[in-house]
Amino acid sequence: MTITTNPQTSLTPTTRAAISGLGTARGHKVVTNHDLTLTLDTSDEWIIERSGIRERRIGGSCLELSTEAARKALTQAQVQPQELDLIICATCTPDQVFPAVSNRLQNELEANCGAFDLNAACSGFTYGVTVAEAQIAAGMERILVVGVDTLSRFTDWNDRSTAVLFGDGAGAIVLERTHNTQKGILSTFLGSEGRFADLLTCDFGGYIQMEGKEVFRQAVRVMVSASQQVLAAAGLTPQDVDVVVPHQANMRIIESAMKRLSIPLQKASTVLETTGNTSSSSIPLALDAAVSKGLIQDNSLVLMVGFGAGMSVAAALVRWGQ
Ligand code: UT7
Repeated sequence: MTITTNPQTSLTPTTRAAISGLGTARGHKVVTNHDLTLTLDTSDEWIIERSGIRERRIGGSCLELSTEAARKALTQAQVQPQELDLIICATCTPDQVFPAVSNRLQNELEANCGAFDLNAACSGFTYGVTVAEAQIAAGMERILVVGVDTLSRFTDWNDRSTAVLFGDGAGAIVLERTHNTQKGILSTFLGSEGRFADLLTCDFGGYIQMEGKEVFRQAVRVMVSASQQVLAAAGLTPQDVDVVVPHQANMRIIESAMKRLSIPLQKASTVLETTGNTSSSSIPLALDAAVSKGLIQDNSLVLMVGFGAGMSVAAALVRWGQ
């Protein structure tokens, strides 16, 4: 059984939750830095130097993107939608106030299970993984966890301080009960620092407002602390980590966090150069890239760590394989 403290650890369970399928989707239209210079007082050099982003993908609804990612994850896991026990959709940009994206996704997939959305901004996917792991510890067999966001719909395209950063996308995993206790999720951490809530906001009918410099500073701090906590909970150290899959907000944030953790930068999977910051979907997109490039292999120790508006933070440590 998982111990319900924070950080959570499943060090002596009889079962674990392991990732059996992974799928992603990107916004339909490529928008390059050059495209943005046509309407904004910015430059390709500034955007690359300050963020590491060269282009982003925008377009598609949360339902379209999450359906595409979910179908790929289910196919890879060889799981039929009807075999799912639960669908969790992490999003802060649902297509409607209600119903939840997850209900429409459940219908689209013809699944027959409960479904709910979860909003923890850019930490949402890792929050979803943590909730799913607890449900598997409580008896469920197979859960679909999706991170999907369409921040382009909440971006003021005349505001150069935010417009250059964000993109749309989705990523999905199937989490399944495994009796191989060496594999799967080893530990998780969830955090909230609500005193920083005003640093990054979006009101109903409004656009993203951000105090970028301060978000940057706090992001590095919480990423490092969350990473240290999940590692300590599993009795492991930063030196044991094979691949870090960080939230893809800014290359300089990732560099700073990796340096403070004393983990070589080459161990970080990054996709933000071509995706921009895709909020809840950024971690599964970077996870998928690491698997495709062969960085993650059977038995790799993978550290996922996200942060975002809230300020929310979440981390999960996974021993890859089933
Ligand atoms: O998923 C969640 C979260 N969000 C983040 O993680 C964002 C965290 N923060 C950041 O990534 C960085 O703070 C930014 C990329 C947003 C900004 O980089 P920065 O190095 O902190 O720049 P800055 O905000 O201090 O701005 C420096 C200068 C300013 O001009 P002055 O005041 O020095 O004359 C800005 O007006 O750069 C100017 N600037 C721009 N210039 C060209 C701001 N945006 C742009 C732009 N193009 N797009």
